Amino acid sequence: TWTMVNIVDEAVAAVRAQVGSGRLICGLSGGVDSAVAAALVHRAVGDALTCVFVDHGLLREGEAEQVEREFVASTGVELVHVKAADRFAGALAGVSEPEQKRKIIGREFIRVFEEAARELEARAEAEGATIDHLVQGTLYPDVIESGSATAAKIKSHHNVGGLPDDLQFGLIEPLRSLFKDEVRRLGEELGLPEEIVWRQPFPGPGLAVRIIGEVTPERLDVVRAADAVVRDEIRRAGLDREIWQVFAVLLADVRSVGVQGDERTYGHPIVLRAVTSEDAMTADWARLPYNLLERISNRIVNEVPQVNRVVYDITSKPPGTIEWE
Ligand code: XMP
Repeated sequence: TWTMVNIVDEAVAAVRAQVGSGRLICGLSGGVDSAVAAALVHRAVGDALTCVFVDHGLLREGEAEQVEREFVASTGVELVHVKAADRFAGALAGVSEPEQKRKIIGREFIRVFEEAARELEARAEAEGATIDHLVQGTLYPDVIESGSATAAKIKSHHNVGGLPDDLQFGLIEPLRSLFKDEVRRLGEELGLPEEIVWRQPFPGPGLAVRIIGEVTPERLDVVRAADAVVRDEIRRAGLDREIWQVFAVLLADVRSVGVQGDERTYGHPIVLRAVTSEDAMTADWARLPYNLLERISNRIVNEVPQVNRVVYDITSKPPGTIEWE
């Protein structure tokens, strides 16, 4: 019979058969796919695996801590946490154009990952070992999608790839035949934290594409704070698994007049985006209850001083995209 336990055992056996005695590295993004792939491979090879978490400073509130603490606690994986927020902020300074942001983030990501991989390789060599494999959380739909490449053309999604020739590893992709819901069940079976297993899709370039305009550390703080309110209220309403994606977008170059107490304000708008979808190819704006919209709006303008207006995006995809950039 087909059960998750069998799936775990089979996948573990398959990884063992593939890797031999060398060491492995895995890039963690904070998302479910790389976390499940890493946890599975760790079951198979234990300490031969080292995970590299490139923290680009563009994650949502609490996400880096989730990887650093809960993921590590639940798996026992060895984690290298590269704190690269300043480096990414520097590279993004002065850039507003969305594809340019993606290119810069993708490029820096590869460079930082490469540096970490080289250090691990040097360590392995000193211990008489080699790193032979790179673990990736590729899913079945990714395999199909890269065949057509349409989505990649519309928006240049970034994955770890493009490493230099002297840093080529064999690929281990233990989730290649699975769909997202199977990966989530596998994650639960492996004992991963619920916040990671049930995390909504989140773009690789992170909050950088949710700031319309130049990305600065101050703007990141604003959109992160607004986003934390949104996610908290959606969770309290019990809607986080029903809604495909829900998030805040900061219109950083727009200001509007408001009033708070006796004071005139001149602040930024936050766009609330919430969609239902099956696969992100099409999406419908979510009919969130008015009282929930009201709570989100009140809390954002009260808790995030730079924001004085909240608007709700009622555009479906197509013609809108889920993200604003
Ligand atoms: P759009 O905005 O094109 O998004 O409707 C479709 C899905 O893809 C996610 N997305 C990205 N994921 N890198 C990623 O890894 C990206 O650059 C990127 N852009 C969009 C988006 O969140 C949605 O789930």
